[in-house]
Amino acid sequence: MLLVINLGSQLAHLIARRVRDLGVYSEIVPYDISAEKIKALKPKGIILSGGPSSVYEKNAPLIDNEIFNLGIPVLGICYGLQLIGKAFGKVENYQIKEYGKTSLKLKKNGKLLEKLSKDEQVWMSHGDAITNLDKDFEVLASTNSCKLAAIENHKKNIYGLQFHPEVVHTLKGTEIFRNFLFRICKAKKDFNISDMKEKLIKEIKETVGNNEVLMATSGGVDSTVAAVLVHHAIGRKLHCIFIDHGLIRKNEKEEVDAKYRKYFKFENYYSVDASAIFLKKLECISDPEEKRKIIGHTFIEVFEKHAKQLEKKHPKIKFLGQGTIYPDRIESAQPSKQASKIKSHHNLTLPEKMNLKVIEPLKDLYKDGVRKLGKELDIPKEILNRHPFPGPGLAIRILGDITKEKLEIVREADNIFIEELKKSGYYDKTWQALAALLPIKTVGVMGDARTYEYIITLRAVTSVDAMTADWAKLPDKLLGMISNRIVNEVKGVNRVVYDITQKPPATIEYE
Ligand code: XMP
Repeated sequence: MLLVINLGSQLAHLIARRVRDLGVYSEIVPYDISAEKIKALKPKGIILSGGPSSVYEKNAPLIDNEIFNLGIPVLGICYGLQLIGKAFGKVENYQIKEYGKTSLKLKKNGKLLEKLSKDEQVWMSHGDAITNLDKDFEVLASTNSCKLAAIENHKKNIYGLQFHPEVVHTLKGTEIFRNFLFRICKAKKDFNISDMKEKLIKEIKETVGNNEVLMATSGGVDSTVAAVLVHHAIGRKLHCIFIDHGLIRKNEKEEVDAKYRKYFKFENYYSVDASAIFLKKLECISDPEEKRKIIGHTFIEVFEKHAKQLEKKHPKIKFLGQGTIYPDRIESAQPSKQASKIKSHHNLTLPEKMNLKVIEPLKDLYKDGVRKLGKELDIPKEILNRHPFPGPGLAIRILGDITKEKLEIVREADNIFIEELKKSGYYDKTWQALAALLPIKTVGVMGDARTYEYIITLRAVTSVDAMTADWAKLPDKLLGMISNRIVNEVKGVNRVVYDITQKPPATIEYE
């Protein structure tokens, strides 16, 4: 196992994933972890991630320097290297800031840069520089503006890079990680999905024993993989509820029902139509946050009611299964807890007071790991490659108040958009695509008649993690055809626009 000390959230995730991609299990820990605790975890190596701070800033995340005395190999990346500099030399604010692609000139390969050539493209980002370092450190490589771009110290087992090996623009990044993991740390390949599946199934069986498990599914990737995994482990002892809140896509309920009942063959699957309750509560509500809150609370109410009924009938239900994945729960390891709240919670946390013990079998996996596990479990590709769909569903794609008429319009427009993206092969090339209804009417002409109808806005984005996104450059011809189909086939729409805004400053959803 390899530990990644988190000094800048997203970067730490990227590093942890690169390590797992090479077959070594990695975990992210917060920067204030003590050396003693690390020792107890017995990692093969430690990586100090990059981060946005400067080591001399007030409140800059600092680590327990005893970490350097554990005899465990340490690799510092960017800000992580500055911490090494702070412990064993001097770091100064550097006047020339360097960002982006840079040429790295190697003096020697050492262990860390084995198999790299004399000149390599790397991705740099720094504002500080180490100006002095203990003599037993060797300088392996430099860039034009950074003398100590790669260093190593065999005696202390400490290594450092000023550039980012975890980003794709560092062309030999994987090679560098391989050197660190296998040459320096002597790590073993202990992370593969097939073993992981067997291990998780065994764990679920042991934890649940003779008891039974309750789960809610949305039909999305995470909850489906979690439910199918639990079903593999305990079969009919799993009770799985799908709640239709009336804000889902065209034919979604039928499709989810068919998958769970016929394809996955769940013995105890319950499909609950709660749409009337949700739509009643959402009547005349226009504020996005209020919509989210109402949907969240109502979801919990409906779930609790059905859970209670089930628990009465099946008193052995003692566990609540959830599809939480690693990034959902690693927030606690973020160096900054001050990130501003842009939209209220994305994932519903089901009631803590339910007196059920929570099991979260996917809690250590990233999304790509979840997809791989899903493949091992024979979950069809169309589920595993589904675009994300928000919990509050179409409610946040109808700007302003929600009516049955508007729901129908968005549902039909969305269906046409997605259908055409799938036919043209663009569905798999985009991260997410959606149709939203703008609650204003404009004048148009159809045949000889004047029309006065709503606008549909289409949004398709490319992204890696939804934190940032770019609008997808869909071909004009495809957009034209989709627009024609929507205006011709969806009653109540006479105009279609395509959103060409990046995130930031916009978000992916409209509310
Ligand atoms: P934004 O709109 O914040 O969305 O750029 C980023 C990603 O999160 C999804 N999203 C949600 N998912 N409940 C969810 O389960 C929500 O309330 C919610 N809001 C946004 C969005 O679809 C995108 O993938």
